Amino acid sequence: MEDINILAIESSCDETAASVVRNGRTVLSNIISSQIDIHTLYGGVVPEIASRKHMERIDRVVMEALKEANMTWDDITAIAVTYGPGLVGALLVGVSYAKSLAWALNKPLVGVHHIEGHISANYIENEMLKPPFMCLVVSGGHSHLVNVTDYGKYEILGRTRDDAAGEAFDKVARVIGLGYPGGPKIDKVSYDGNPKAIDFPRPKFDDNEYDFSFSGLKSAVLNYLNGLQMKGEDYVQADVAASFQQAVVDVLVGHSMQAIERYGVKKFAIAGGVASNTHLRSAMETACKERGVEFYKPSPIFCTDNAAMIGVAGYYEYIAGVRSGWDLNAVPNLKLGQK
Ligand code: KG4
Ligand code: ZN
Repeated sequence: MEDINILAIESSCDETAASVVRNGRTVLSNIISSQIDIHTLYGGVVPEIASRKHMERIDRVVMEALKEANMTWDDITAIAVTYGPGLVGALLVGVSYAKSLAWALNKPLVGVHHIEGHISANYIENEMLKPPFMCLVVSGGHSHLVNVTDYGKYEILGRTRDDAAGEAFDKVARVIGLGYPGGPKIDKVSYDGNPKAIDFPRPKFDDNEYDFSFSGLKSAVLNYLNGLQMKGEDYVQADVAASFQQAVVDVLVGHSMQAIERYGVKKFAIAGGVASNTHLRSAMETACKERGVEFYKPSPIFCTDNAAMIGVAGYYEYIAGVRSGWDLNAVPNLKLGQK
């Protein structure tokens, strides 16, 4: 059978990325041009700057992906691109570029859901992993607990009611003076802190025990800091970071294990930028092991935004017959399972 080579493009936030993926599982190139340095100056992602940088870089990133894969355009079967959710202006750069490319080369175009990409990152290094499995997707914009019933088919068990997990990491990092991007900095500094120093809340809902809430936790950190300030006392940065992170990890592991037991799942995966958190990875690993559940986690480079995961998801959409038209548009609030 002839190889199916997908050229994938990702530009939903602050990473301009392109990749070539063979037969949905083999990553031949994975080029990521990060804008972190630029956005760090402003303490977070500035959407207009993100779009402009994507425009400046996308051409070079795509050409590099093709070159590193040692391919010509003739070898490419189809073009896949993230069309939502994400920042509308940022998404539009990738979508317009992919459409022009597919049109000019006369290749099929496949629009990919960004979260579906994150989940699919687990297929890259785990050849044997196939649905059904359960997945916790935790990124800067999303927190979802889902049953992956088949390729491209999801049943959402729980989601965040306010902030996403990564958003909470970024906000808390800012208030304790760690700056942007918050997740990796809290992860690192927590090794010097006591996770039991402060007892932050672990919220739960009666009507859906799998839903998350992180804004209350963020407020609890703020209240704690304000309380100390009023007393003229200083806070210990590493203790606040470690205690906050412990609360997030407890909630994510707790909800996931409850769902694993309830649904009797045998395979559990994590995905998204927060899934690169070292404390979360080891806590999940231990909890899964205790229950005899197989645990999957992408390497950190496939957890944060990249185009290889879009190439994998794009492959499964492609073989399922999904084709996007020239009217494909950026959908900033695209829901999981919505096509
Ligand atoms: O998946 P991603 O790259 O972009 C979105 O789709 O949102 O996730 C980015 C988020 C940011 O909030 C970042 O702080 C968080 O992932 N993150 C982490 C870590 N690395 C990235 N959070 C906790 N620990 C980390 N090591
Ligand atoms: Zn993402």
